[in-house]
Amino acid sequence: MTVTDTAARIARGQRPAGVRSPAAAPALHHVLHEHRPLVSVRDLQVAYGDGPLVLDGIDLDLHPGEMVALLGSSGSGKSTLMKALTGFAPIGAGTVRVGVHDLTRLHRGELRRVRAQVGQVFQQFNLVGRLSVLTNVLTGGLHDAGAINLAGGFSSSHRRRALELLDRVGIAHKAKDEARSLSGGQQQRVAIARALMQRPTLILADEPVASLDPKMSCTVLELLHGITRDEGIPVLVSLHVMPLALAHSHRIVGLRDGRVLVSAPTAQLSAADLEPIYANDHESGAGHGDDDA
Ligand SMILES: Nc1ncnc2c1ncn2[C@@H]1O[C@H](COP(=O)(O)OP(=O)(O)OP(=O)(O)O)[C@@H](O)[C@H]1O
Ligand SMILES: [Mg+2]
Repeated sequence: MTVTDTAARIARGQRPAGVRSPAAAPALHHVLHEHRPLVSVRDLQVAYGDGPLVLDGIDLDLHPGEMVALLGSSGSGKSTLMKALTGFAPIGAGTVRVGVHDLTRLHRGELRRVRAQVGQVFQQFNLVGRLSVLTNVLTGGLHDAGAINLAGGFSSSHRRRALELLDRVGIAHKAKDEARSLSGGQQQRVAIARALMQRPTLILADEPVASLDPKMSCTVLELLHGITRDEGIPVLVSLHVMPLALAHSHRIVGLRDGRVLVSAPTAQLSAADLEPIYANDHESGAGHGDDDA
């Protein structure tokens, strides 16, 4: 199913193929029927303590069925923007809406519930190395009251789902191995399975391929792309390699010094259009990726 197909289904009031039932994902269901973006950020300002603004007037929309690549030099505010989407950045002004919730108005308990719907993938995988691959995936479902059975173990339905997800990311044969025994690319795929175990309505991936070789980078980005395509879950992925963003996203948002410099469908962008994001930038060494892509 293409993004166009997904948009057409949404326009007809249908969920994209594979999107879960209203009971499983109330926020996403609600949004799909209002034809609104799942995430909507307006005029966001963030400063740490008394420091300068690190995000200054950010507008961002994420729609069901789209994978958006976030580009920008080191320090441009990519991770801070991701943190704002889970209420972990000190928001000074503006609004951050995820589903039906304005994160700037939520109590801590409500924020926790929203966070449980956001699957996160990080550069360093953040697995528990001495636990098995399967257990790492199962921990993604811990917010669900049905995850633990009366004997204190994980329920059989959760185990089944975790194994299905490991199969989906191509790691089922490693289910019993310690997570630390896997390669980086394998660990990142486990981390994606763990994020899916949450039944997320949104996936945030902060430099998920920065530690991987070019081939595995493509594999991981294709996996994320497939999740968006098949289940309609929007993915925001920050990248340092411009050609990867051009090859694996529906839209590119480029940050420079905490502001949005570029925001356009990827099909309308060339590498030259993205150069200004990194202009006169000697620090990050990022972006062009001729060697990396
Ligand atoms: N916890 C913090 N306290 C103070 N300043 C911070 C904090 N986190 C980030 N910053 C500052 O905010 C700015 C944006 O940082 P951020 O980590 O969002 O950038 P980034 O685009 O993710 O960079 P990179 O590509 O290196 O990961 C930087 O100037 C950074 O020093
Ligand atoms: Mg960062």
